[in-house]
Amino acid sequence: MTHTSNSKFTEETVLWVKQHTQKLITFCLTRPEHYRFHAGQFSRLGFRDGAGFLWRAYSVVSAEYANHLEYIAVLIEDGPMSARLAELHAGDTVLLDKTTTGFLLPERFVGGSDLIMLATGSGIAPFLSMLQNPTLWQRFDHLVLAHSVSFANELIFNDAITQLPQHPLVGEYAHQLHFCPIATRDSTVVGLHHRLPELLKSGELAAAANINFTPEQSRFMLCGNPAMVKDCFQALLDLGFVMHRNRVPGQIMMENGF
Ligand SMILES: Cc1cc2nc3c(=O)[nH]c(=O)nc-3n(C[C@H](O)[C@H](O)[C@H](O)COP(=O)(O)OP(=O)(O)OC[C@H]3O[C@@H](n4cnc5c(N)ncnc54)[C@H](O)[C@@H]3O)c2cc1C
Ligand SMILES: NC(=O)c1ccc[n+]([C@@H]2O[C@H](COP(=O)([O-])OP(=O)(O)OC[C@H]3O[C@@H](n4cnc5c(N)ncnc54)[C@H](OP(=O)(O)O)[C@@H]3O)[C@@H](O)[C@H]2O)c1
Repeated sequence: MTHTSNSKFTEETVLWVKQHTQKLITFCLTRPEHYRFHAGQFSRLGFRDGAGFLWRAYSVVSAEYANHLEYIAVLIEDGPMSARLAELHAGDTVLLDKTTTGFLLPERFVGGSDLIMLATGSGIAPFLSMLQNPTLWQRFDHLVLAHSVSFANELIFNDAITQLPQHPLVGEYAHQLHFCPIATRDSTVVGLHHRLPELLKSGELAAAANINFTPEQSRFMLCGNPAMVKDCFQALLDLGFVMHRNRVPGQIMMENGF
């Protein structure tokens, strides 16, 4: 890490890069000692770009207490940042803004016993970080994670999720999680196939998770495709849930994943 106290960013080293599909990579950076974040927040990562810089937001996949910083990136055709990430190799340098941001924080919720996390694509990242926090499992009795992707090969975190029972810190609670992978364009995957807003409206998600969604018990967090976030929010409003605000507690928290 190169770190000058008056700079707004540090220069971190890429430890590894994994290519999962043509458009999906995960990568890991060194973590500066001073870098603090809450599970659910995102980093601003950057590259030097001519005389200026190129910056984009990436939710941290790693646990708050991890030694390194892991991210998932969807590579967008003709996307400026995607073009740089597509060429990323171990040993390269990535700029890390010293400030972390984001209000998708489960500790902000008041009451409730069940946390329902709804994600599309890379929107699963903040939930993977949260799930490594023992306090989350102690706070909620039941956790539901629904991850919607188009095709089976995009469900790249399924193994990490099914291995949670072996996790040294949260393994003992792992039975509290109901994981619902959703492949919207791939009938080879066993499970759900409709988009998240439809699954909420039809009651199919609640049935699959074997849980009743009620304003008293349920708290919802949405992250991913902005159209999904908007439509799920509307579906939840129609079901009688309201947005959570610090001064007016509710049941819904959300973040657009891009
Ligand atoms: C709060 C926040 C958190 C984010 N976290 C992540 C993350 O963890 N992983 C990640 O890959 N991206 C994340 N993004 C998006 C990321 O910042 C970049 O926009 C993305 O990597 C593409 O950058 P680009 O310069 O190649 O294209 P851009 O010019 O930034 O984007 C071009 C278009 O690509 C589409 N797009 C952008 N990002 C995605 C995505 N993740 N999935 C599907 N379509 C997308 C949108 O239609 C967008 O208009 C996040 C964005 C925000 C605002
Ligand atoms: N997914 C693809 O096969 C595909 C194809 C061509 C281009 N792209 C482009 O590739 C980039 C990344 O795509 P991505 O697949 O990682 O992200 P994405 O397009 O956000 O799709 C991820 C998941 O979100 C679902 N989704 C999309 N819009 C939704 C909405 N309005 N409401 C509810 N769910 C919704 C998708 O369902 P659906 O599968 O039903 O869309 C899929 O299950 C984007 O720029 C996208 O436009 C994607």
